[in-house]
Amino acid sequence: MVWAVANSNLALVKYWGKADEGAKHPAAASLSVTLDSLSTVAEVEFSTRLTTDRIEGLPGGAAARVAAFLDRFRARFGLDRHAHVVLTSNFPVAAGLASSASTFAALAKAATAAADLEVDERELADVARLGSGSACRSIYGGFVEWRPEGSGSVVEPIASKEHWDLRILVAVTSERPKAVGSSEGMKRTAATSPYYRAWLESGSEDFAEARAAIRERALERIGTVAERNCLRMHAAAMAAAPPLVYWEPATVAVMRAVWALRERGTAAYFSIDAGPQVKVLCSPSAVAVVRAALGAVPGVLRILESRPGDGARQVDRPPAWALGPAAASSRAEVSAG
Ligand code: PMV
Repeated sequence: MVWAVANSNLALVKYWGKADEGAKHPAAASLSVTLDSLSTVAEVEFSTRLTTDRIEGLPGGAAARVAAFLDRFRARFGLDRHAHVVLTSNFPVAAGLASSASTFAALAKAATAAADLEVDERELADVARLGSGSACRSIYGGFVEWRPEGSGSVVEPIASKEHWDLRILVAVTSERPKAVGSSEGMKRTAATSPYYRAWLESGSEDFAEARAAIRERALERIGTVAERNCLRMHAAAMAAAPPLVYWEPATVAVMRAVWALRERGTAAYFSIDAGPQVKVLCSPSAVAVVRAALGAVPGVLRILESRPGDGARQVDRPPAWALGPAAASSRAEVSAG
């Protein structure tokens, strides 16, 4: 039995569109921060005794994605044994909290170790990508970029978690599973949105700007580019046919609360992935005031707090949050969407 833990990540500059659907290479460069407190633990064992894969901890649709990952994993490394996989997350993920990133990064780490494969982090990121694109960034801690290169792509950490003590508050506005997953959503945007080309083009400027902002630890700079990049991604998605609207009324209310904070002099900036939750960037000294403002917005169910965290790692035993009845009930809520 082997265990590995990986964290979710927040894309400050997002990928929304693939250049290669099969190998999941991105159409444009993205840049993320790995979050310390939204984690998944994967337990994996390969056994000749199993005649089929046994996947625990995920509802049907998400378990099917893990089964597909295991088939690709075996094909890549020439393995034939089936696996027993147990996945547990410490956050009740349903929509837009990037559970697929932590799930497939943890799974890649645990599965390669369970199969006794010697792989470096670069290859591990390739393996994680077999499950979901954004998972390749969660192999690394701190600030991570993922760029198209040649006919493929490369993932590279650009700054450690110690580089910048940024805080990320997640305002959860809905725990319902999203109607359209990100893979399907980006495919639809690429195929039908008249703004898809413009989205890709504007992304390269955002990427360069975000890189510089991280290097300088400039909150206003990273916040401005992250907010604009997120709104442009959603604008392109909303213009797809049929339209993709991932927001709830409370999502928009939180955006307005963040703008109101800025008007009152508190530096806070939002980003939103393919779901209704709002992630808010701020400095450690602003956490209390930002938390209070987000908590006062009707429709905000809870607030999670994070800071830059570690990459995927093997552990000797599962963390405490993955044990006991509480973990069993949170598993039922987890989705790898
Ligand atoms: O790779 P996926 O299917 O988890 O898609 C991730 C898409 C976004 O979260 C919206 C953007 C990103 O770069 O993480």
